[in-house]
Amino acid sequence: MWVMGFITVACGWSAWGRRFQQAAQDVDKVEYQYDIEKWLNNVDSDLSQFNSLAAHLTWKLSTFPDEKTSRQARQLGKVRNKWKNNVCESTIRHEWLTPEQRRKIYLLCRGPNFSDQMALEYLEVLGKMAQEFNDQVCLTGHPAKVNRTAPDFPKSGDCLYGEPDLERVMKRTDLDPEQLKWIWTNWHDSVGPRLKDKFRLAVEYQNAAAKNNGYNNIGEVWREELETPQLENFVFGLYEEVKPLYVLLHAVIRHKLLQKYGPSQIDPKGPIPMHLLGNMWGQDWTSLLEMFPLSPNKIDLDLNLRKKNRTVEEMVLEAEDFYRSLSLPKMTQKFWKYSIFEENENTTLCHGTAANLFSRDDFRMLMCGKVSMDDFYVIHHEMGHIEYYMAYRNQPAIFQDGTTTAVHESIGDAIMHGVMTPQHLHRLSVITDEQLLDNTTSLFLLFYQALSKIPEIPFSLILDKYRWDIFEGSVPYDQWNDYYWHLTRKFRGIVPPEQRKSELFDAGGKFHVPDNTPYIRYFLSGVIQMQVFRSLCELSLYGKIQNDSEEFYLPLHNCDIYGSKDGGKKLMTMMEKGASIRWPEALLLVTGTRHISAKPLLEYYKPVYTWLDKYVESNNVYVGW
Ligand SMILES: *[C@@H]1O[C@H](CO)[C@@H](O)[C@H](O)[C@H]1NC(C)=O
Ligand SMILES: *[C@@H]1O[C@H](CO)[C@@H](O)[C@H](O)[C@H]1NC(C)=O
Ligand SMILES: *[C@@H]1O[C@H](CO)[C@@H](O)[C@H](O)[C@H]1NC(C)=O
Ligand SMILES: *[C@@H]1O[C@H](CO)[C@@H](O)[C@H](O)[C@H]1NC(C)=O
Ligand SMILES: *[C@@H]1O[C@H](CO)[C@@H](O)[C@H](O)[C@H]1NC(C)=O
Ligand SMILES: *[C@@H]1O[C@H](CO)[C@@H](O)[C@H](O)[C@H]1NC(C)=O
Ligand SMILES: [Zn+2]
Repeated sequence: MWVMGFITVACGWSAWGRRFQQAAQDVDKVEYQYDIEKWLNNVDSDLSQFNSLAAHLTWKLSTFPDEKTSRQARQLGKVRNKWKNNVCESTIRHEWLTPEQRRKIYLLCRGPNFSDQMALEYLEVLGKMAQEFNDQVCLTGHPAKVNRTAPDFPKSGDCLYGEPDLERVMKRTDLDPEQLKWIWTNWHDSVGPRLKDKFRLAVEYQNAAAKNNGYNNIGEVWREELETPQLENFVFGLYEEVKPLYVLLHAVIRHKLLQKYGPSQIDPKGPIPMHLLGNMWGQDWTSLLEMFPLSPNKIDLDLNLRKKNRTVEEMVLEAEDFYRSLSLPKMTQKFWKYSIFEENENTTLCHGTAANLFSRDDFRMLMCGKVSMDDFYVIHHEMGHIEYYMAYRNQPAIFQDGTTTAVHESIGDAIMHGVMTPQHLHRLSVITDEQLLDNTTSLFLLFYQALSKIPEIPFSLILDKYRWDIFEGSVPYDQWNDYYWHLTRKFRGIVPPEQRKSELFDAGGKFHVPDNTPYIRYFLSGVIQMQVFRSLCELSLYGKIQNDSEEFYLPLHNCDIYGSKDGGKKLMTMMEKGASIRWPEALLLVTGTRHISAKPLLEYYKPVYTWLDKYVESNNVYVGW
């Protein structure tokens, strides 16, 4: 019933379009722009309602899914698709439009053009993939040759969720390689085959719809969103700048793993088996931080967070306090009312999410948080999205979006770099007075950042390279899995725990693949967030040290941006523009440059680079694979 109102609106559009084209015959440019403006205002108010309805359904599906809601979501998707087609079929004299009008129509009408039927089928297959991915995995077989049982280690026959259950097990460094391999293999053996054919179908639908709007394949659509010409060349070029740091970190981690597990598990000159990296996808190595003898009093950040009986909600308040210290707005009443911070009986989706419900004051966070540093990061990350949502809420609906998804992803992470300083963690009582004064603490924290961020860089690069090539049709179906491992080995220096069969679909084990979310945004965000952080630093009083003659900056990784109102204001000038400006203009507002540059990233990690370099030198460690 609820969807009927829209069908009327959607069908009304062709009439609108015709009237509008007739009027255009004998009007001048000013009148034309005026007409278009009125028309766009109507388009915008429809879009606003679509966004709000879709967001409510998505929220419901993530928190309390049922068949009725998913049917409604598909219906809405179909109606929205029809509406978009009607709007975008209007013949428009682009040369007469104002730049803003042109951008609106561009943003609205780019992307795939699904037929009604195909839209429905595509949404159905997406829904099925989500179901399969979020379904439990019942463990089979046993880890081979394990003669000690770790506490809380799952047994054969146990049924667990990939996220967050199995994901958490993979972080445990107390486990045996065989146990880790068993968990890793159970997850990938189970989820990939359930998804593979559905994924292929989703690719076919999307490619057909992309071709139907003049693209060669859906990969072109994905890349277009980032508004960067020759995106593939651009990101691979950028990666070349960061690669020496990754390769060095890889070499040292491999050396540490060799010391721990011996040559039966680790080839001293080869790629690293994924299951030993402390993460299901080998993309975050912070579980291995304990291997670095950086500080005489090693800091257990998770343990320190749990001191004082902190709750997840208190961590959210601490994050909010940081944003507010930058003069950014606090979270709304509805945020506190509706957000879900911890797992409950109904949650089926544990992937951290920030939801914009498109009604001015309704923004929510969804996560299955625990009191841990990982989740402290997720909270700041998601809150960055929410600050962005709030900042652009006064824009027309078409512009209520990030300038690109990459910039959207970068806000919370830039803030987190400010949280991970000795000064701020001390403020939060996560490190003690002695640890604050200990001159090794800051390097220790920087290592934490490096292990969480650097491995993500080549991962985020190849996850989309992989899909771009599949979309393009250059990877035969029966080689999908081989190609995934080829890229993983070549660019990341990582191999699976054992030879994988070609017919499997191990990439499916990563949330964003069945969810069909592009990933290159995280690669770009990794670079952009350091540019943003550096700019916030320059504006921050506490980033500077003043002596008699001049002022100079703290090393970037020690820069304390907490309380920097100027920084927050600057960020706001960009965020409030939403998608109304292109990213180079947005970047200019915050950083003073229109270019994406890896220099701030390299500057930030310089002390880590120096340390690794020395380690490699003095331990005669082989670099590369
Ligand atoms: C979308 O495709 C249909 C054919 O499937 C076509 O009639 C329609 O004009 C297209 N719409 C746009 C906006 O290109
Ligand atoms: C199992 O126990 C034997 C004998 O106690 C020991 O030599 C071996 O290293 C152990 N294996 C593992 C995987 O811990
Ligand atoms: C934390 O909670 C435990 C158990 O409820 C209690 O015994 C302890 O005193 C609390 N510690 C602090 C610092 O509040
Ligand atoms: C789970 O969903 C049921 C049914 O909607 C509801 O009554 C219950 O309060 C929910 N539980 C939580 C913890 O939200
Ligand atoms: C820390 O201080 C000690 C003693 O003051 C000094 O020897 C050491 O080089 C310092 N380390 C760093 C990383 O600055
Ligand atoms: C002030 O800092 C500059 C830059 O490090 C340094 O060269 C200069 O010696 C310092 N002056 C004093 C008085 O400490
Ligand atoms: Zn995000």
